[in-house]
Amino acid sequence: MERMSDGSSFFVTTPIFYVNDVPHIGHAYTEVAADVLARWHRQRGDDTWFLTGTDEHGQKILRTATANGVTPQEWADKLVEEAWKPLLETIDLSNDDFIRTTEKRHEENVQKFLQHLYDTGYIYTGEYEGFYCVGCEEYKQPGDLLDGEGDYAGQKVCAIHSKPVELLHEKNYFFKMSAFAEQLLALYEERPDFVQPESARNEVMSFVRSGLDDLSISRSSFDWGVKVPWDESHVVYVWFDALLNYVTAVGYGQDDAEFERRWPATHLVGKDILRFHAVIWPAMLMAAGLQVPHRVFGHGWLLVGGEKMSKSKLTGIAPTQITDTFGSDAFRYYFLRAIHFGQDGSFSWEDLHARYTSELANGFGNLASRVIAMVNRYCDGVIPAAGDMTDADAAIRAIERTATATASIAIDRLAIHEAIGTVWELVDALNGYITEQEPWALAKDPEKRERLETVLNTAVRGLGTLAVLLSPVLTKATATLWTALGGDGAVQDVRIDQAWEWTGSGTVTPLEALFPRIETSAE
Ligand code: MSP
Repeated sequence: MERMSDGSSFFVTTPIFYVNDVPHIGHAYTEVAADVLARWHRQRGDDTWFLTGTDEHGQKILRTATANGVTPQEWADKLVEEAWKPLLETIDLSNDDFIRTTEKRHEENVQKFLQHLYDTGYIYTGEYEGFYCVGCEEYKQPGDLLDGEGDYAGQKVCAIHSKPVELLHEKNYFFKMSAFAEQLLALYEERPDFVQPESARNEVMSFVRSGLDDLSISRSSFDWGVKVPWDESHVVYVWFDALLNYVTAVGYGQDDAEFERRWPATHLVGKDILRFHAVIWPAMLMAAGLQVPHRVFGHGWLLVGGEKMSKSKLTGIAPTQITDTFGSDAFRYYFLRAIHFGQDGSFSWEDLHARYTSELANGFGNLASRVIAMVNRYCDGVIPAAGDMTDADAAIRAIERTATATASIAIDRLAIHEAIGTVWELVDALNGYITEQEPWALAKDPEKRERLETVLNTAVRGLGTLAVLLSPVLTKATATLWTALGGDGAVQDVRIDQAWEWTGSGTVTPLEALFPRIETSAE
């Protein structure tokens, strides 16, 4: 089916991930959220671009590489090839691009951007002394620090990493960020959706209201970074470099038409890096005379045992630990359904197993298997035509229609959990419909043949609608189901905003269990 476009453009990004370590499920969480949005928009005919990638400069990577006896470039190459690119497959991502900050297309245009700011007077030389957290790659305000405990007693530690901060004194280049405080506040006022959710917006606004400092944007004590173009004894501060990936990847500085087509973006970020995206980044863009992002969404943290899950605190879980047992569909579904997008969510194996069993295996998978088995058994696999419709049949059609429309509206608000919840109302309604209509009883009475056919027709149509609406989330199961339903082409090519219109015709083929039972809980 040819893909139509209604002309809207949609550009979604994830943070670019530090390559000092391998991915955990917190990283994969942002990736699957962005992927579902991208797939949904593509399937609505929008001109869509999904960007992700890796953040490879800075002291943190340099130190890890040195500790492992290799150069930072060697370390980054290894981690990207062995850990970060394989993640794309592990969780079935449909990214259009993968940017690495060590690529020429990035480095050259970071220099171009910086030179432009220098030439227009937004950069000056200054001195800075402050507490630096290498884990965050950020100077910390005294109020952001905690008193260390145990091994770190007597020292100040970062509230996020629980590791000591380092007192640095450097002569650096500074970006006149303070000049943009008023413009930033006006932006948050005029565009209330710019920073989401509301709690994130409030936090960012009070931060800017309390006064903005200028930003140190270069380092001279090490050299793993993009060289400052007018002074090669400095490298660009890793965050300043990293944020620019969002524009260098789509043509900034080298392909104006591409840049025009893609920018501005919807940025999905964890709430710990919200200020970089909602304060520093728009200020940088304002200084360069470029459009600010479309919106910045700060999602919550995955908590394990009540704390932010993290490798440094040894609570990190690798995505493959989940996908090896439950599959990528269950991974994608679980995190996006169980957690209100924008709030923290606790991960537990018990909860994952329970939802897998009740919602995916029993709720959706079983519905699909039963309906297709009945079409095979009672109609020799031929999808029957519908006869006269009852209220019960009409109610299913109505739910198909509202689910199609309501889910899309939820996606526009970035309420992914709500979109899936809305579609699940159709799963539940169809299960209730089958229980009430009892097609197995109708099949015993030749006089009820037409009614049996209408019920199976309605159920098959409902399944087709589900296959289309769930295809951005359950990428593999819906492809299998679509084939079994005899759908034309690939399910991802069917317009998601017209999901309810699918009628079904021809024959079905047998369907294996979409979500096989997992008896023992994985630990
Ligand atoms: N390199 C920077 C981002 C630069 S973007 C221009 C960075 N990288 S990171 O690898 O440390 O983190 C990337 C993302 O993972 C952040 O959005 C962070 O919030 C997210 N997560 C890390 N641990 C997380 C959880 N436990 N839960 C959810 N997300 C978490 O920061």
